[in-house]
Amino acid sequence: MIIASNLKTNLTREKTISYLMDVENFLDKNNSDQEIYVFPAQSSLNPHHGKVVQGAQNAYATQNGAFTGEIGLEQLEEFDVKTILIGHSERRHILGESQEKLVEKFNFYKSHGFKIVYCVGEPLEVREQGEDVMMKYLELQYEGIDTSYDKLIIAYEPVWAIGTGLTPTLEDISKIHLKLKEKSSAPLLYGGSVKVETARDILACDGVDGVLVGSGALKVENFCQMIKFAEELNNN
Ligand code: PGA
Repeated sequence: MIIASNLKTNLTREKTISYLMDVENFLDKNNSDQEIYVFPAQSSLNPHHGKVVQGAQNAYATQNGAFTGEIGLEQLEEFDVKTILIGHSERRHILGESQEKLVEKFNFYKSHGFKIVYCVGEPLEVREQGEDVMMKYLELQYEGIDTSYDKLIIAYEPVWAIGTGLTPTLEDISKIHLKLKEKSSAPLLYGGSVKVETARDILACDGVDGVLVGSGALKVENFCQMIKFAEELNNN
């Protein structure tokens, strides 16, 4: 299974290094062969070699250049980063990234062979309009995206569930995941208020290949516990 931690705008570089070390130690001690990703804040990136894959939360679709406040391929290469999160709802809705921009970013990093974790998800007002409207909305987020890219992971993250403590029911998660799986055979993660208390049940849902976790993974012991759940489920 795939267990990913999105650290967002949290943890200094020093704390991130210690977080990564704790996860590596946990994986070694438990002989875990789950696929683990950690996405640190940009300024906390550091060279990292081990079982945990370090990814970027964002980068501009460029090698380098005049894009104030952004980083590009050159900065990611300095830290051997070959994995990127694209389309996270905070980038779509707070930072205003359009589908067009995301497609540009996707194609650029795909052309450089990056593993891409591509996020989709609907806001509450869309969900409230019923399943058809919701699926159409999600469909638009697949527009222009190469869903057969072999280094693609998709994360379904309902916007209303991110950072709110709310989650869809397990039945809803399964239902939506099975529908989204018709669009792409890429592994499909669930994200949005996954906590250590809920992770096991979510990971056990039909159609769920892993989780992308924000606040619930900020404490490294909780993140490791989620990895343990995945390990146990895999062995069942
Ligand atoms: P959350 O964030 O777990 O804090 O809801 C998930 C995400 O944004 O990926």
